[in-house]
Amino acid sequence: GAAVTQDISSVEAGQMVVVKYRGKPIYVVKRTEEMLATLDPVQSLLADPNSDESLQPEYTKNQTRSLEPGLLVVEGVCTHLGCAPGFRPDVGAADLGGNNWYGGFFCACHGSKYDLAGRVFKGVPAPLNLPIPDYSLDGTILTVG
Ligand code: FES
Repeated sequence: GAAVTQDISSVEAGQMVVVKYRGKPIYVVKRTEEMLATLDPVQSLLADPNSDESLQPEYTKNQTRSLEPGLLVVEGVCTHLGCAPGFRPDVGAADLGGNNWYGGFFCACHGSKYDLAGRVFKGVPAPLNLPIPDYSLDGTILTVG
């Protein structure tokens, strides 16, 4: 099949690696406790906090949108017009609008913002959360597809 596997043991806490799957970049982020702690405070700022409208497997329909909270696996494809959002994990920094930035992904094409679970913020062009592909984990081996 088209599934791809990647050993993620060398990915450091707080870092992202990109895996190619069916021509799409899949963002794989090892989330720290600090990063996970941002998911709750941003809840009211999000367009679809419970991911009711987003594309994702049933087993990722939780606040962290993941099988294991410490690992985010999400398509790096902006739901507006398909640019690749940049990884902006800098929790606590001021964002481009002068607000507190909790960390996440910023699409420079038209300014869409996503949190560290790939959930889209209100008031940006992107309509939906970043999609999550089917994936599984076997120890440190990630299989996408
Ligand atoms: Fe990302 Fe338009 S493609 S904001």
